[in-house]
Amino acid sequence: MAFLLPWTCVLLGCFSVSLAGAYNFSDLYPPLWKKSASQFSDYRVKNGKYIIDPWVYPERMGMYKILVNKTASYFENILLDNEQNILWGLPLQNGWQYKTGRLADPRRRTDCGYDSDPLCVSVDSWWADMNYFLCALPFLAAVDSGIMGISSDQVMLLPPPKDPTKFCLNVSSCRSSFPEIMSKWNAFYQHLQYPSSTFEDLLKYLWAAHVATIDTVGKIFEDRLEYYSKAEANFGRNWCVAVDYLAASLFPTTLVRTHEFQEGLPPRMLVNGDRAPFISDFTEFQNTVLLLLSFLSQVDNFPGKRLISNIF
Ligand SMILES: *[C@@H]1O[C@H](CO)[C@@H](O)[C@H](O)[C@H]1NC(C)=O
Ligand SMILES: *[C@@H]1O[C@H](CO)[C@@H](O)[C@H](O)[C@H]1NC(C)=O
Ligand SMILES: *[C@@H]1O[C@H](CO)[C@@H](O)[C@H](O)[C@H]1NC(C)=O
Repeated sequence: MAFLLPWTCVLLGCFSVSLAGAYNFSDLYPPLWKKSASQFSDYRVKNGKYIIDPWVYPERMGMYKILVNKTASYFENILLDNEQNILWGLPLQNGWQYKTGRLADPRRRTDCGYDSDPLCVSVDSWWADMNYFLCALPFLAAVDSGIMGISSDQVMLLPPPKDPTKFCLNVSSCRSSFPEIMSKWNAFYQHLQYPSSTFEDLLKYLWAAHVATIDTVGKIFEDRLEYYSKAEANFGRNWCVAVDYLAASLFPTTLVRTHEFQEGLPPRMLVNGDRAPFISDFTEFQNTVLLLLSFLSQVDNFPGKRLISNIF
């Protein structure tokens, strides 16, 4: 057992000293953060509703930007530029997906996400579909919870060009299609507003909602993984397992901690032939994390799984 500890530590960054003071926070923001919408009035309005197209990267990122801004006052960070907000994990992951080509059409049947249409988010991308629900549901639940300053029927998301029925588009349709997940996100926002909630309490509710989202949505989009190289598809599956471990450890998804963790994620899509820890254009950290993810996922299929979880 003992040898597992340092391995899981790599994943969780427990060796990383808090380097918060060493960063200029604006350098850690996701790509195109400054260009993304930062308030509801930056979006179109139709019939009294804000219309947001989450299939365009800066519009999706704008939802996160508003969310992170509107929740800032609930974290002890007024002097620290909102660095302690644990909702940073979501936009930073979306930024990593964008930067590494993971939001583009994996089969290249369209230009979506490529040179001629770089901001397009492809509905055929497994990463983009999974992220949709980690954006739309936390965002709409925040609206529903009253902390966004608009009412529940005042915002509508545009459907993707394909498979529109797989996606919910507003507060009421997300509540009826995904009641358990929405109520978990609502519980998070409720506790966010209780003065007695600790940072750890909030992490608990955030991760519970996150894991419930991935578990439910992962089943809907599993077939999309066939569009990828075997190496990338395995990485996607392993990633879902790793999220359970991050959740179990209550990994603090603040701006700096998420950034440090992301240094270990693959900086491009995986192609067949990529074998960690021997991928020459990856750093040692990236190779180690990739190896660890496949290891965790193998352990996850074994009866001894509980032992690993007990480390935390
Ligand atoms: C942080 O970086 C931004 C842009 O990269 C720059 O405008 C700003 O002056 C920097 N702030 C500090 C304190 O260095
Ligand atoms: C939130 O947005 C408003 C308006 O855009 C801005 O003035 C404020 O500084 C932002 N707050 C934080 C914590 O980023
Ligand atoms: C929510 O979206 C559904 C379609 O997804 C639509 O039928 C319904 O009228 C919308 N509700 C509101 C309040 O906008």
